Formats: sequence, C-alpha cells, structure tokens
Amino acid sequence: MIEARGLCKAFHRGSADERLALDGIDLALAPGDFAVVIGSNGAGKSTLLNALAGEVVLDSGTVAVDGIDLTRLPTHRRARWIARVFQDPAIGTAGTLTIEENLAVAESRGRTRSLGMALSTAGRARYRELLAGIGLGLESRLTTRVSLLSGGQRQALALVMAVMGQPSLLLLDEHTAALDPRTAQAVMQATLAAVTDAHLTTLMVTHNMGSALAYGNRLIMMRDGRIVLDVAGAEKAALTVEALIARFHLSDDKLLLA
Ligand SMILES: Nc1ncnc2c1ncn2[C@@H]1O[C@H](COP(=O)(O)OP(=O)(O)O)[C@@H](O)[C@H]1O
Ligand SMILES: [Mg+2]
Repeated sequence: MIEARGLCKAFHRGSADERLALDGIDLALAPGDFAVVIGSNGAGKSTLLNALAGEVVLDSGTVAVDGIDLTRLPTHRRARWIARVFQDPAIGTAGTLTIEENLAVAESRGRTRSLGMALSTAGRARYRELLAGIGLGLESRLTTRVSLLSGGQRQALALVMAVMGQPSLLLLDEHTAALDPRTAQAVMQATLAAVTDAHLTTLMVTHNMGSALAYGNRLIMMRDGRIVLDVAGAEKAALTVEALIARFHLSDDKLLLA
C-alpha cells in the first residue's frame, strides 16, 4: 500500500517565477495497482514521481509505503521500496560496467548479498533467463559493456534492474518516450510482463494517449499540480480519447492533453 497525503511543492517560492508543481496531492495505491499518469507539460507528473522517490524535498505532505513513513528518507534509503526508470536510459544503468555487473549491482542494492555471490554461475543463469524474457538478445551478451548497447537495449536493462528487487512501488517516467517505435514496443511489453508477473504496484507517466488507455487498471490525470481525474477498473476500460476530451471540455475549455 502506497499512501501520499497532502503533497505540496512550489519551485522558486516567493519569486516572480514561483511554480506550484504539487498542489495538495492525495494518492493511495493498492497492492498491484497499475496507474497510468497523464497530463500536459508542466502538470507536475515528474515532480510527483520525484517526490515519491525522495528526489524532491516537499514543502508539506507525507509519503508512506506499507505503513512505513518514508517522508524524511533520502532517495537511496527509499530504494528498498521504490524503484524507478526514467526517460533517459543512461540514468538507470552504468555505462562503464558490463551487463552482468549492472545486474549484480542492482541485485545487491539495499541487501547484504555481495557482488561476488551475485556473479556466480547460478546468478548468471538467472540473469540470462531474466534478459531472455525481453526478447532483445541481451542474454547472450552478459559481459558486454553497457555503453555499447543501443538506447532501447539499455532501457530494457534498466527496467530489469528496477524490478529485480521486487520493489513495493515502481515509478516509470515516460520510460519509452526516447525510443524508436519498435524498441518502445519491446520495452513496453517487457514492462507489462514484469508488472503483471510480479504483481508490482506501478505508477507510469506517459504522453501517449493510446498507452494510457490500453494499459493499467487506473488512469490519473494531472493539471496544475492537482489530480483532476482518477478512474479505475471498468470505468477506465470504457474510456476513450473522445470521452476524455469531452469530459474536460465540460469543466474547462483549456484542454490539457499534450
Ligand atoms: N527543478 C525544478 N526547478 C524549478 N521548477 C521546476 C523544477 N522541476 C519542475 N519545475 C516546474 O514545476 C512544474 C511541474 O513540472 P514537472 O513535474 O516536470 O511537470 P511534467 O512532468 O508534468 O511535465 C513546471 O512548471 C516546471 O517548470
Ligand atoms: Mg515530466
């Protein structure tokens, strides 16, 4: 269970550039919720994910995971519960290390297991199996330096690394936006497989309306630092782009779809 209450964050407070990026966000995610987050540029989507991850220091509000208050913990100490994949594949992986070294580092994160143990024959067999599931051929390249991979291969690796620790919350911030369509599709399929198999609680930001409607059991729309729509289950499944547009024309003619 993920519980965020009253999240507020203003950037450049008190100056002419003041931006209220989060304006009192309340969000509860049940175990296994796969919530897709949409909203135009500057709506506060990345700030919300960064606040959950501990990258952004909140002005007020609390973040708890499984009943544990994480509000005051820095990002690295939240890593046990919260994993992330960003738009830029270079952020989630270490280019100077090999694929297997990256996986070993991810596996030892927040744990006592040593890198040596992870890089055993059994460890390598497990890594090959994890990578084969993505279908990008990484399983035969364990000793390849990650800087030599394509952006999509690197992003797929970042995803495997993020989910291998069985996080309580997976945060995906436009993680396929920088990829070519075919690779984006492969990374999205790997995401769906990982999220479904492990029943991961996930918050995924996308600017792709098709993805937003197709994936997840819940759709959250943000505008001006607030959640303006939060639908789940059958109501989400029945949504169409036209319905979304119509609905938001009714309350406000400033359409927020990017
Ligand atoms: N580090 C920052 N410094 C100053 N302003 C920021 C920073 N990060 C985000 N903002 C501002 O906060 C608002 C929300 O940004 P962001 O969360 O990145 O939106 P989104 O991801 O929905 O496009 C925007 O007005 C943005 O300019
Ligand atoms: Mg963003």
